Amino acid sequence: MTEQTPVTDTKAVKVPTLPDAQTVTQVQHYTDRLFSFKCTRPASLRFRSGEFVMIGLMGDPHPETGKQKPLLRAYSIASPSWDEELEFYSIKVQDGPLTSKLQHIQPGDEIILRPKPVGTLVHDALIPGKRIWFFATGTGFAPFASLLREPQTYEDYDEVIITHTCREAGELTYGHDIIESLKTDELLNEVIGEGFWKKIKYYPTTTREESAKMGRITDLINSGEAYADLGVEPLNPDNDRAMICGNLAFNLELKDMLEAAGLEEGANSKPAQYVVEKAFLD
Ligand SMILES: Cc1cc2nc3c(=O)[nH]c(=O)nc-3n(C[C@H](O)[C@H](O)[C@H](O)COP(=O)(O)OP(=O)(O)OC[C@H]3O[C@@H](n4cnc5c(N)ncnc54)[C@H](O)[C@@H]3O)c2cc1C
Ligand SMILES: NC(=O)c1ccc[n+]([C@@H]2O[C@H](COP(=O)([O-])OP(=O)(O)OC[C@H]3O[C@@H](n4cnc5c(N)ncnc54)[C@H](OP(=O)(O)O)[C@@H]3O)[C@@H](O)[C@H]2O)c1
Repeated sequence: MTEQTPVTDTKAVKVPTLPDAQTVTQVQHYTDRLFSFKCTRPASLRFRSGEFVMIGLMGDPHPETGKQKPLLRAYSIASPSWDEELEFYSIKVQDGPLTSKLQHIQPGDEIILRPKPVGTLVHDALIPGKRIWFFATGTGFAPFASLLREPQTYEDYDEVIITHTCREAGELTYGHDIIESLKTDELLNEVIGEGFWKKIKYYPTTTREESAKMGRITDLINSGEAYADLGVEPLNPDNDRAMICGNLAFNLELKDMLEAAGLEEGANSKPAQYVVEKAFLD
């Protein structure tokens, strides 16, 4: 009788088809312009809550050579550093090279993820303070979705104020759901203490559709209305630290306001009182 060689079960091991491939596990759509998704996390990926990575898909085949190149874009990781999976919050630009395709991903599909996290919206770039402000417009909420689920945020600060300005009310849903989920977040309630979420003051506003609070956060702060609504003291450099993530004009306007209030811009290499990052290039 001839000896039989064991047969390898090739079906058991799924070979990734993309370089740096990760598998999509969940997708949720909010509006015709916004969705979020989760994917597997590379075992070797370490990042600080608030950082971003490059993610994408393979581009269309070259018409002559048929070769495909990765089509990558910067994305804030919306999940906290301790999470087993990665979460992203994305725009859908109908003629956008990446998001015209990315918006159609389904659980089981693969995306490319370059495991080199970077960014300035990190606790390490700020010096100690009592109160932290997270200022976001649109998808600029994404890094704060990570930082709001990061225990260090509540260890370092007595008060956490998150403002989110969008054009329409439906664009606030993702942020609203994250804030609500914190109330029953087992890890944070255990690590920081039951009711830790009472440290959070959430201030969502819209500019082009009726909602509970209308107006740009910049105008609402300049007029003093935001302070009155929140029942807080105006910004001051002794107590306040801030992170900004929105469109370029918003970032610049808020930067000027923080500088006028006496806060200085920080960086990983030189921590100070506030940090800023663009939510998209324009
Ligand atoms: C540091 C950094 C972090 C980023 N993090 C995120 C993120 O977490 N989520 C996310 O959706 N995008 C994020 N972006 C933007 C992202 O890199 C892409 O621009 C976006 O995915 C669109 O890609 P695209 O190829 O479809 O279109 P692109 O050619 O990249 O963009 C086309 C146009 O769409 C508009 N646009 C692009 N991104 C946005 C946006 N996020 N919100 C509103 N308008 C936009 C701009 O007018 C832009 O000129 C980030 C960008 C930077 C620089
Ligand atoms: N959101 C939509 O429904 C929509 C639909 C189709 C296309 N787009 C296009 O998509 C791109 C991005 O749109 P977006 O809505 O995601 O982002 P956005 O234009 O950056 O606006 C997001 C929010 O930021 C506010 N804002 C803008 N500049 C500000 C500043 N200097 N200070 C304070 N607040 C400021 C806006 O208020 P204002 O409303 O007062 O500007 C809006 O509430 C734009 O090019 C837009 O034309 C958007």
